[in-house]
Amino acid sequence: MIPIFYLGHADICGRALNEELRVDAVRLLRSLNELGMIGRRQGLKGVTRLALSEEDCEARDLIVSWMEEEGLKVSVDPIGNIFGVREGANPALKPVIMGSHIDTVIDAGIYDGAYGVLGALEVIRRINEEGIETRHPVGVGCFTNEEGVRFQPDMMGSLVKSGGYPLEKAYARKDDDGVTVKEALKGIGYLGKGDAKPEAYFELHVEQGPILHKRGFQIGVVEGVQGIAWWRMALRGEANHAGTTPLDMRRDAMAGAAELYSGLLEYVAAKGNAFCTMGRLRLEPGAINVVPSLADFTVDYRSNDDATFSEGKAEVERRAEESAKRRGLTLEKEMTADAQPVHFRPEMVGLVEDSARRRGYSTFRLPSGAGHDAQFMHVICPTAMIFVPSINGVSHSPGERSEAADLERGANVLLDCALAKAEVKK
Ligand code: GLV
Ligand code: MN
Ligand code: MN
Repeated sequence: MIPIFYLGHADICGRALNEELRVDAVRLLRSLNELGMIGRRQGLKGVTRLALSEEDCEARDLIVSWMEEEGLKVSVDPIGNIFGVREGANPALKPVIMGSHIDTVIDAGIYDGAYGVLGALEVIRRINEEGIETRHPVGVGCFTNEEGVRFQPDMMGSLVKSGGYPLEKAYARKDDDGVTVKEALKGIGYLGKGDAKPEAYFELHVEQGPILHKRGFQIGVVEGVQGIAWWRMALRGEANHAGTTPLDMRRDAMAGAAELYSGLLEYVAAKGNAFCTMGRLRLEPGAINVVPSLADFTVDYRSNDDATFSEGKAEVERRAEESAKRRGLTLEKEMTADAQPVHFRPEMVGLVEDSARRRGYSTFRLPSGAGHDAQFMHVICPTAMIFVPSINGVSHSPGERSEAADLERGANVLLDCALAKAEVKK
């Protein structure tokens, strides 16, 4: 048996020094599958729980009921983040929070975000079963609108909580139907008043990329999260006849958008440490034989390197203006998210690595390509992330999968890290 990290020289609740405390993997998987039944839409293979939707509400209610079953004190803050906290021996101390999100993209898998929340809940269930007492309170956090599909910016709950975005500005953000965040929060009954200040934050997540799976590592030790910038852009030209309008007389909005995208893809390929995606595009009037007068689209730009991130953001805007000018178009642009690259504190990265190694798991250090609430929680408290392999690196897709044994390993590491920070009472 492998000694657990937090035991040190002590004996907890009669547990032998070298006895391994592990999460209940079957229970964790059962919870993941149960939550994963919420948000099934006809015609889609995966789950769709857009932030603050009815489906998100149903999922939140389930999480709150599970928190209450474990005796956690549940609070909701003004941006709708949910915290369920287990008492510590010293209530004056700040809670160690583990968590992630339960909103999803459209037609998602069941692990992205949910694994971090339910892994955290499993840790609580397990330490409740064992009657382990900690000096700090320990809790589960469930953040609002991590995905940013319905409302931008993404990671909204943690961004507002960390002071990076004014609450009133977040409340005023609208979805495509003109519904504001505040209206949606009220509508589902998750506009609260709580204010949990964490001692530390741990986020367990599937990698969502191919590195761990391809290289055969069991635990990803996350060093940081790459910077993410989002824009909503509109190029406006003139609708005209597809067969009679000479090429040099067109003001083709789609041509401007296409030119911009292919230019940006060449730019990031040449950089080597950046990504660019135009994931959404709407054309007007949208007819086969009409030159498009409007291209309404999004741009997602990312880099892990601080200088490349700043330079690339300027490049996206410069190229958009250049495309507009070249094609006789007007450009409207709104930056909807701007999260700087984050580098977690070395001692927190080291804690994850040591915890995994003590259990005999193979580890690999890597940055996160996806955005996470951890990148904003890092601003207000020591933060770390634990990754487990995603089979073939598939995510944001119903094909997202991870091996049960990997899911268990990740949650065991989460357990060790949380207990190390919460300080088990001897
Ligand atoms: C969140 O999942 C993102 O990286 O877009
Ligand atoms: Mn996620
Ligand atoms: Mn995601």
